[in-house]
Amino acid sequence: MIKLAPSILAADFNILGEQIMLVESTGADYLHIDVMDGKYVPSISFGMPVIASIRKNSKLIFDVHLMIEEPIRYLEEFKAVGADIITVHAEACTHLHRTVAKIKELGLKAGVSLNPSTPLNVLDYILKDIDMVLIMTVNPGYGGQAFITSMYDKIRALRKTLNEEGLDVDIEVDGGITLDNVDLVLEAGANVIVTGTAVFGGDIQSNIKGFRRIFREFESRLN
Ligand code: DX5
Ligand code: ZN
Repeated sequence: MIKLAPSILAADFNILGEQIMLVESTGADYLHIDVMDGKYVPSISFGMPVIASIRKNSKLIFDVHLMIEEPIRYLEEFKAVGADIITVHAEACTHLHRTVAKIKELGLKAGVSLNPSTPLNVLDYILKDIDMVLIMTVNPGYGGQAFITSMYDKIRALRKTLNEEGLDVDIEVDGGITLDNVDLVLEAGANVIVTGTAVFGGDIQSNIKGFRRIFREFESRLN
């Protein structure tokens, strides 16, 4: 099942609530929420108070992408404000296994993200314990960057490993995904699609419908 996860980093924060209602009613599965600390990544986005506010008005699954150093320090707080899935960066955790175990203990889904240059083998001893791998298809820190095309091979290699090991782990992709390249990303094996600019830039409803149409066509080709 392919899922669409619009990233609110590209939303108009002046009317954030309205835009979330629009993506929810038009057909999003997850709401992708990018938290940046100005240390792990150069920029700073937003944190708990914003998530707590939007949680009041949305039933979407909150897919919280923590681009922060040592996220283990804040897991309870992100759960308290409404996270359903918490994704941490392998590069930002001194004790990745402990961090993932804590997310699971809190009763949440656990994702691990890898920067473009981070090899897949850092997942070797954690893959069975997680629900999702987030393959960054840009260097994290900003919306609106161009997709790094060498990531197609990385997605493909991860899908192959998951198939061989019979693991039910989602592959999420994040960064530079558009209506023009999403088909190739699906073809490579991703099944959770994050998209910021390509949803919130322009007509939100027609953008979401465009992604949905491509998902449907892809799924019908599989059957
Ligand atoms: C980048 C963030 C992304 C970003 C994607 O660090 O993790 O989620 O919002 O934005 P687009 O789709 O515009 O590349
Ligand atoms: Zn993200």
